Amino acid sequence: MNVLVTAGPTREPIDPVRFLTNRSSGKMGYALAHAFIHAGHHVLLVSGPTDLDVPDYVDFIPVTTAAEMNEVVAQHIGRMDIAVFVAAVADYTPVLTEAQKIKKDGDRMTIELVKTPDILGSARNTFGFGGTLVGFAAETENLEENARKKLVGKSCDLVIGNDVSSPAHGFDSDRNEVVLVYPDRTEFISSAPKSEIAHDLVDVILEIHRTKESS
Ligand code: PMT
Repeated sequence: MNVLVTAGPTREPIDPVRFLTNRSSGKMGYALAHAFIHAGHHVLLVSGPTDLDVPDYVDFIPVTTAAEMNEVVAQHIGRMDIAVFVAAVADYTPVLTEAQKIKKDGDRMTIELVKTPDILGSARNTFGFGGTLVGFAAETENLEENARKKLVGKSCDLVIGNDVSSPAHGFDSDRNEVVLVYPDRTEFISSAPKSEIAHDLVDVILEIHRTKESS
């Protein structure tokens, strides 16, 4: 099976020395990429900047901005059977990137932002992806409800919600605790190392894929 995984944060440049970003170490996405390889699949990992080593045998395309991630996904998703969007994509980017370092002249400054492409939201309608589509939802409240909104709004087969309000799970941590939001039900995976959660998620995603294929 060909599997696309997005991971890590994106960085949206303000000027040559500053950028906007989201929190993400890349650990969850890289663990998933590794687990799919371990299960015998081909993985294309499209990742924003992280400090992690690229897992062995993974095809890797590094990106920096949301626009770059969008372009790479648009180019490759057509040949994928499964696409899993773990990246913490910045939702807004500066309208203008200044060519020179902005001087700190005033006590306040305003930066005009514009929405980045919704890459997961483009998968079905814009990119025409018909395979198994899995999103993540990083939430600080109403985890299941917000994950379900993403499942429906972005036409996913599964959305994996994680509560990022606790330092023990979610961003940066080696552990996670997730809620699996399917179209017809919700399940939970309790706290475990991201590497273990990733193996469980691979089983779940492959099962969804098999069911889709046989229906
Ligand atoms: O990297 P770690 O430190 O291990 O942390 C893991 C994680 C918390 C980042 C990860 O488990 C996670 O929850 N990833 C999604 C983070 C997120 O930004 O979620 P969101 O609710 O903003 O986005 C929803 C979904 O749409 C995600 O699948 C995201 O990849 C995708 N998206 C969002 C915005 C955008 N412009 N394009 C997208 O594709």
